[in-house]
This record gives sequence, C-alpha cells and structure tokens, in this order.
Amino acid sequence: MNILVTGGAGYIGSHICIELIQTGHEIIIVDNFSNSDMEVINRLEAITKKKIIFLPIDICNQEEFEKVFQNYSIDSVIHLAGSKSVLESLNDPIKYYLQNLVCTIQLVSLMNKYKVHQLVFSSSATVYGTPEQCPIPETATLKTENPYGTTKLAVEKFLYEFAQSNHSFSIVLLRYFNPIGAHESGMIGEDPFTIPNNLMPYITQVATGKLPFLDIYGNDYSTLDGTGIRDYIHVVDLAKGHVKALESLKEKYGWRVFNLGTGEGYSVLQVVKTFEYVSGIPIPYLISDRRKGDVAISYADATKAKQQLNWAAEKTLEDMCRDAWRWQRNNPNGYKVGNIREGQLVYLTDL
Ligand code: UFG
Repeated sequence: MNILVTGGAGYIGSHICIELIQTGHEIIIVDNFSNSDMEVINRLEAITKKKIIFLPIDICNQEEFEKVFQNYSIDSVIHLAGSKSVLESLNDPIKYYLQNLVCTIQLVSLMNKYKVHQLVFSSSATVYGTPEQCPIPETATLKTENPYGTTKLAVEKFLYEFAQSNHSFSIVLLRYFNPIGAHESGMIGEDPFTIPNNLMPYITQVATGKLPFLDIYGNDYSTLDGTGIRDYIHVVDLAKGHVKALESLKEKYGWRVFNLGTGEGYSVLQVVKTFEYVSGIPIPYLISDRRKGDVAISYADATKAKQQLNWAAEKTLEDMCRDAWRWQRNNPNGYKVGNIREGQLVYLTDL
C-alpha cells in the first residue's frame, strides 16, 4: 500500500517509516522539519536501503499539501504531524489549536475530497488526564488538563463525529503511553531541539555529560519508591502497533481506538537504575518538587490492542534503555554534525 506519513521525519514517525518499509509498504513522508532534521531521511535510506519520497511541506499550507494528493496515489494516511509540548501549549494555545486541530480537519477534508478513506491518528494517553484507575482501559473517562491534551481530545471527537457521518472511512486512533528507546541500528532516535522535557532523553544527556544531573520531580507520590510511575513503551514496538492498525483498516469501517502501552508501570527511579545497569554509567540526580500537571501513576490496559489488532509490546525496559543509550552515545549531538560516523557506530557488544 502507499502510505502518506505526516510528521514522518519525527522521532516516532521515523521509526514507523522503517517498519512500514520493512513490511512491504511504499511511503511518502510529509514533514515541515519544525521538530526534526533532514538527516533523518538519509538515515532512513541507509537503514532500509530504499530511496524515500519525502516532501518538505507544512500540512497547514493547504495549497501545497493538496498537491500531494493530486500528485501521488495514496491508500492510507498515518497522521503524526503536530506539536507536542505541554508547556508550550500552555503559553501558546493558538498554535496548538491551529496545528493540531484545524490542520487535522483540513487533512481529513482533503482525504475526503481525494477519496483516501483510511486513517491512523496519533493520539496520546494525555486524554485520560488524571486517571481514575490503573490500568487504564480505552473506556476510561476522558478529561484534559492543558491545551495540548485538549487538542488531542478534540481531534478524537472530531474524527468520531466525522466517522458517524461518513461510512466509507476507516479510522483508528492510537493512544500512546510513554514512548522511549530507539532503533537498534543506533542511527535514529529522539533528538529534542531544546533541553529535554521528557525523562529518557534527559537521562541520556546526563549520561553523555551534556547535562550535569537529573531532576527527579517528586519522591512523595504514593508509589513503591515515591517517584512517578509510567508505562514506558519501546518506540519500535509502538511503530509495529501502527503497522497492525494500518493493516486492520481494510477489515473494518468506522472509528476505533486503542491504547499502545505495555500494561506495566515503572517508577522514575526504576528507569534510572535500569539505565545505569545497562550503560554502566552512574546518573547523578537530585530530588526536586513535583512538576505541575504530573500524575502519580499512569499505565495502560493493553488488552484491546492484543485482542483486536493482534499486537503486544515485546521489548523490556532494559531494551528501551540500552537502545536509547546506543542512539545517544553514537550521536551525542543528535542529528547535528560532530557525531561519530557510521563506520564507527558503537554496538551493544562494545558497551
Ligand atoms: N521526570 C523527571 N525528571 C525529568 C523528566 C521527567 O522526574 O527531567 C518524571 C516525570 O515527573 C514523570 C516521568 O518522569 O513522572 C515521565 O515524564 P515524561 O516527561 O517523560 O513523560 P510524561 O508522562 O510527563 O508525558 C508523556 C508525554 C506527553 C503526554 C503524557 C501523557 O511526553 O506528551 O505522557 O500521556 F501528554
């Protein structure tokens, strides 16, 4: 199938592209490179040994974006393009409502016009807000606590109502828990443009010496060691979940939603200890105040995806830490210059 991947050069998108190519799909990447790097495309070509069609277009530029539908034969869309920082969304809600909500509506209207009826949408466990129960099933109450989350939920609702009105569409929403790790080649991974907000890229940058220590946001939660618990999922497992979701689109019409998580929660300290174990590098940390907006515990009930998509996460927390570290160690500056060259890549056995 020919798959249009919006945001395909991003952290999650790039891993999805590899899995799509390796399962025989043709891909077209559309990305405005606002939070990604052109070098990703070179790396994807090196890993897959395939020439990749990529179009440096902003999906919000409707005129430009429409040309993609005119010029390429597209069977399905995996839609990841959007902004994802909770903090930024609090400071700039207009940007989030425009990019995440309005541009998704425009995308769906183009899909409708050009009769592309299959969509996988990248949603987030953020739509559960502070969960009432863990593990969290897809049927849990939805509520959001910041503009980023609200735009994800608004898109979910829009897609639901759209699917009610148009029975030729098949739409799957995937609610991601906490994707971490990197491709085992060590050639692609998470490369935040600024000081990382998220735990794993922060840890890996402490490990390279780029950052002096980790701030652990609170050790007074009601958890086994007082630190927050999350459902960390290897980004390659997450990518495989997209391929399964995509393949299910042709079997069922309408709107469906799935959690993509492992179903297991780990505390911040457990992640730190596991990282130290697999890398052999101590991670200095300080306990600081709780971060505003953080919940104590969040992990998925992942049974629906297993039953209906025949998908389950397979990689362990050790795999996640090892792969995240290999990526960061091979690419201390992310995709920017000054990294170790391909011939000098460090493999697991060298660690
Ligand atoms: N944490 C630290 N120090 C850090 C960064 C994080 O202690 O420097 C802790 C957090 O307090 C939390 C855990 O590590 O307990 C995970 O934090 P992340 O920032 O990695 O992930 P979040 O669970 O806060 O956020 C993720 C996504 C969001 C999404 C949210 C809910 O990044 O986009 O899950 O699904 F909205």
